[in-house]
Amino acid sequence: MTKIIAHRGLSAIAPENTFYSFNPMVDYDLDWFETDVSITADGELVLLHDDRLDRTTDHNGEISAQLFDDIIDADAGSWFGPEFAQASLLTMDDLTQFVSQTGMNLNLELKGITGPNCSALADQLVAKLVPYLRNINSQVNLIISSFSPIMLLKLHAAAPELAYAVLYDEHQFLDDWQLIADACDAQYIHLDQVDATPENINAIHARGFQVNVYTVNDIETVNYLTTLGVDGVFTDVAHQLVARK
Ligand code: G3P
Repeated sequence: MTKIIAHRGLSAIAPENTFYSFNPMVDYDLDWFETDVSITADGELVLLHDDRLDRTTDHNGEISAQLFDDIIDADAGSWFGPEFAQASLLTMDDLTQFVSQTGMNLNLELKGITGPNCSALADQLVAKLVPYLRNINSQVNLIISSFSPIMLLKLHAAAPELAYAVLYDEHQFLDDWQLIADACDAQYIHLDQVDATPENINAIHARGFQVNVYTVNDIETVNYLTTLGVDGVFTDVAHQLVARK
């Protein structure tokens, strides 16, 4: 059975990574969702996909250069539509509470960190995140993913008991995938749909890893990937792929 994973919540119908895209998931027969965690300059954890605040909030600049108190009241919804002006950025406390209340399984993507203070921030992110992840992992199924092998290795060193996924960018599925996956003891490889060829899927399965494919918003492609035996698909239109309760 191919898992349908709601990508940043129901992000086709509401602003991504906010309660407006998370809460409606409960109305559907969905059991997996994905979101992203990043860190502010003063070491607070915030759910944000982009390195910058510009696209999805009314603030600008790199998240890793902002103070938490300066951004936590940002409008994270108006960019999607005026009816979402009350949407706010979410924290790991918000995410933990949502998971506890819904019992939904979670794929949390660790954002890569750049900038002059990146090494210290990466260590802070790991140290702050681990207690949240242990709590969530005790309640639901949790997969930690990242495009950054360094972030995966750092978190794996701190919390080896968690389940890890190596993420590959479009056309970046490389021969070294087994080295990275083995180094962080990954159970999953997450592929861009352009790399989700029968050959790649078979090679990954032959090594005993599961394959989840992103971000597939075309229902025919979801059906095709299902016939190829992929284990999960990330989609912005999860509500179109499952039954409403
Ligand atoms: O984790 C799957 C997918 O979310 C990866 O792509 O761009 O959303 O980080 P992106």
